[in-house]
Amino acid sequence: MKVIIKENYEEMSAAAAGLISDEIKRNKKTTLGFATGSTPIGTYKILAQMCKKGEISFKGIKTVNLDEYVGLDKTSDQSYVTFMSQNLFDLVDIDKANTNLPNGCAKNLEKECQRYTSLLQANKQDIQLLGLGSNGHVGFNEPGTSFDSHTHIVDLTESTINDNSRLFEDKSQVPKQAITMGIADIMNAKMVILLASGKAKANAIYKMVKEPASESCPASVLQNHPNCVVIIDKEAAKNL
Ligand code: GLP
Repeated sequence: MKVIIKENYEEMSAAAAGLISDEIKRNKKTTLGFATGSTPIGTYKILAQMCKKGEISFKGIKTVNLDEYVGLDKTSDQSYVTFMSQNLFDLVDIDKANTNLPNGCAKNLEKECQRYTSLLQANKQDIQLLGLGSNGHVGFNEPGTSFDSHTHIVDLTESTINDNSRLFEDKSQVPKQAITMGIADIMNAKMVILLASGKAKANAIYKMVKEPASESCPASVLQNHPNCVVIIDKEAAKNL
């Protein structure tokens, strides 16, 4: 695990966008694993600007997203489908047929988990981008999730519901469940880039980097990944 500490959010975002755009230039048919949350928004903004200037193109790119809430319609403001459209897909030349998110409204969620796991096995991520939950979650893999897990349904913890309630009208509207890529699906990526910014992530970063890998901090599994780059700002790095 390589840890890169940047001065601030902007520099963290630029470093991540640099790695992703280099991959897009190298392999025009690359498969990118994308994340939602506030943290990657700056990275997506830079990638969209680069695409607008003609420096990169998403035309042949395939994407697989980490997760989605269960029971939120795709068209809802808070769905991760909406997030990806607003923050990246509508701003670049990607073919939306090549973008994939797990469907949290599938009638048979177990079947949907199997479908998404098979999709990931057939489309290994060249790069998987990750944010970090303040409790150490990656995707929606909450503490205690098996390192061998594939796509599954999760009961969100109180801490995640609280963290994510800022994006909803009130806490009662935050879905209680989500569908997420499993830890094994994330570890299958050729390269992982984890981003974290701000002091609210400092404890999780400490556990992830300094403590032995353990299911109590899902992100700590990345210590075992052969090509993982952690890019964080000074505040997130304050306990290291
Ligand atoms: C959500 C997402 C995660 C994300 C986390 C952190 O729970 N499922 O993928 O990493 O939030 O979000 P933020 O970047 O807004 O702090």
